Amino acid sequence: MIGTQPRLRCLSGIKPTGQPHWGNYFGMIRPAVALAAQHEALYFIADLHALTTVRDAEALRRDSLGIAATMIACGLDPSASVLWRQSDVPEVLELTWVLSCVTGMGLIERAHAWKDARAKGKDVSLGLVSYPVLMAADILLYDTDVVPVGKDQVQHVEMARDMATATNLAFFGAQAGGEQVAEAKWDGRMLKRPQAIVQANSAVVPGLDGQKMSKSYGNYIAVFAGPKAMKKQVMAIVTGSTPLEAPKDPDTCTVFALFRLFATAEQQAELAEKYRAGNFGYGHAKLELLQLAEAHFAPQRERYDELMARPSDLEAILQDGARRAHAIAAPVIERLRAATGLPTHVRR
Ligand code: TRP
Repeated sequence: MIGTQPRLRCLSGIKPTGQPHWGNYFGMIRPAVALAAQHEALYFIADLHALTTVRDAEALRRDSLGIAATMIACGLDPSASVLWRQSDVPEVLELTWVLSCVTGMGLIERAHAWKDARAKGKDVSLGLVSYPVLMAADILLYDTDVVPVGKDQVQHVEMARDMATATNLAFFGAQAGGEQVAEAKWDGRMLKRPQAIVQANSAVVPGLDGQKMSKSYGNYIAVFAGPKAMKKQVMAIVTGSTPLEAPKDPDTCTVFALFRLFATAEQQAELAEKYRAGNFGYGHAKLELLQLAEAHFAPQRERYDELMARPSDLEAILQDGARRAHAIAAPVIERLRAATGLPTHVRR
């Protein structure tokens, strides 16, 4: 139909490794919630992926519920969308294995995640090396159309497409013939090849030190830190040392860059004017940022705190999500079992 967008199945995963921060919020959480209004949204908490690094059981449990509460507090309706914990649909591990059997080492060797870890001199586990295979299984298990991801994950979605093609060639009788066959119309039987969607204007959110905000740099501001903690973090943003009286350049200032995320165009113009006029210090700018951030997050934080106070309700939401996710996955696994020669009569 012209003029109407098809409703696509959109899937993404979030790793439960610590508290979500402003970078996660603007880069992933908010766009994901917005997409859910338009498409069939499947979002999961990637606890199996988190195991590549997390070694604290209590933290993994807490952060998994924390991600669920965050998504809901930020506007995701868990009855209209599917929200679940990755490990609650264990078939994903079965698909991971089948994909591993058709994935060449050449493809895996090109993946950036484990190479980055190796370049930093870290120990590289087999789990980290096969991270993209598990991620491909996440995507392919649910006949996903589109995967909203940050730029750093595009390579993984491309790999999922390659693994779908390899599986279709190996087990589903697809004919080799390059991209043409790879792009051939999905016949409803093979694994479906997904598309990545990268947020077009997802500005990199700078952290306290001006580098990209990231958990691993320790330069982040948590979305649901209480007002006091948030103030402390905002006040710790590194700024220039231009004296109070002197005019300042908003465009090179981290405080201003963060302010823009929350501000209307008029509010941005107003603050930029104050920077340029002088007699306006970085401390003043931080207070203005804090005010907008607090107004933005306060209602969501209240909802988050309510949700986290009732872990068994959250657990029930995730169990319901897992049941619905499983209903989508089960026929895909059956197709795969039939195609590979594994038994299809297994009761689950
Ligand atoms: N690898 C993603 C990240 O680190 C998380 C993730 C796991 C994911 N499985 C996925 C994202 C499937 C999209 C689709 O952010």
